Amino acid sequence: MAAAAQVSNASEVATSPKAAVAADGPSTADFVLRPVAPCDREACAEIAAVTYGGHDYLVTAIETWMADTAKNTALCLAHPETNRLAAIENLTRIDDGETGWVEGLRTHPDWRGRGLASRLHKELVAVAVAESEDPAKPLRRLRYTTRADNLVSLRLAEAAGMSVVDSWGFAFQPLDERLCDKLDSARSPGSGGPELLHELTMEEAVAHCEGPTGDRLSTSKFVTIDWKVLQTVGRARRVLQGLRDSHDTVFAGGDGAFSLGQKRPDATTTSWFVTVYAAEDADAALRHIAWHVARAAENGATAVMLFYNEALIRELGPEGRGVFVADVFSGAPKAVMVERELRATE
Ligand SMILES: CC(C)(COP(=O)(O)OP(=O)(O)OC[C@H]1O[C@@H](n2cnc3c(N)ncnc32)[C@H](O)[C@@H]1OP(=O)(O)O)[C@@H](O)C(=O)NCCC(=O)NCCS
Repeated sequence: MAAAAQVSNASEVATSPKAAVAADGPSTADFVLRPVAPCDREACAEIAAVTYGGHDYLVTAIETWMADTAKNTALCLAHPETNRLAAIENLTRIDDGETGWVEGLRTHPDWRGRGLASRLHKELVAVAVAESEDPAKPLRRLRYTTRADNLVSLRLAEAAGMSVVDSWGFAFQPLDERLCDKLDSARSPGSGGPELLHELTMEEAVAHCEGPTGDRLSTSKFVTIDWKVLQTVGRARRVLQGLRDSHDTVFAGGDGAFSLGQKRPDATTTSWFVTVYAAEDADAALRHIAWHVARAAENGATAVMLFYNEALIRELGPEGRGVFVADVFSGAPKAVMVERELRATE
């Protein structure tokens, strides 16, 4: 199944006009707030089947959320009579517990347009706010990433007091020979191929994230991978080592750009998530993407999901190497991270 379809389906679902509220059935307030439980697997599978072209990570993600309740607060709103899950969202803690990361907001198609996502999101934000007020807990901010055209998600962010603090270009593409050919033809003549690159040592990767401001390639204090944004300033070594240990992340460098990629299987597809950081150098970015496409193929991935830093958005977009986003990958929306500070950093 094409990952590109995954994107367009996501957009359709999230930006379509609010569905008409059914006249019958319980009101939003009647739905019961409770932790996600094994009995919710079936409802989650039904939601996942119609979300992101059937390539939603929900089915595998809930297992992690239920298994690690110290790190995750997975809540749902369940039907007051049947106890069946109607909406779900998880709050996980990253960055040594300092960041509350909100993810996986879904409403079952039978219950959309009734305000369930809105209520659940408020409830989960309240959990984070309460936790941040506990001096024994490290939580100091709330964040999540969403597509810049996901109007519902942005509306919910605004209602929760969150605002956009960072953005990336991103794109999906099934991994096939066409992708490799198109990447080749998108590069400038003589700009060199992916063979110029090498896998970075931990020292090199850390230097790219923690060098002097202005020098480092990770232009912000974050590293982005698989829709999650990790705080690196002051702790790049730990963050990057953690990524390598837990996700077999590979870092590439060698030409003034920095990239990382890792594999993520969902119920039906194995995707390779790549993030490229380069300072306005489209050719360097394309070499890195080609390098990761090769790694993705070696690792049995069938789709590539790409994030690229702000400096590259113009270079890879219509004003720069427009052929890249228009032809090589399908669709080039932006992804944004929204944030709310819950407790000032001392
Ligand atoms: C996005 C999704 C969770 C919304 O669920 P829902 O229960 O139907 O949403 P709600 O009825 O609570 O509406 C949420 C808010 O968005 C608003 N909204 C709905 N459609 C909108 C639109 N097209 N533009 C702007 N705002 C819109 C609603 O008015 C509501 O805001 P309010 O509470 O201030 O009135 C659901 O469509 C879904 O599961 N989509 C697939 C996955 C997804 O996109 N998840 C979000 C990003 S991870």
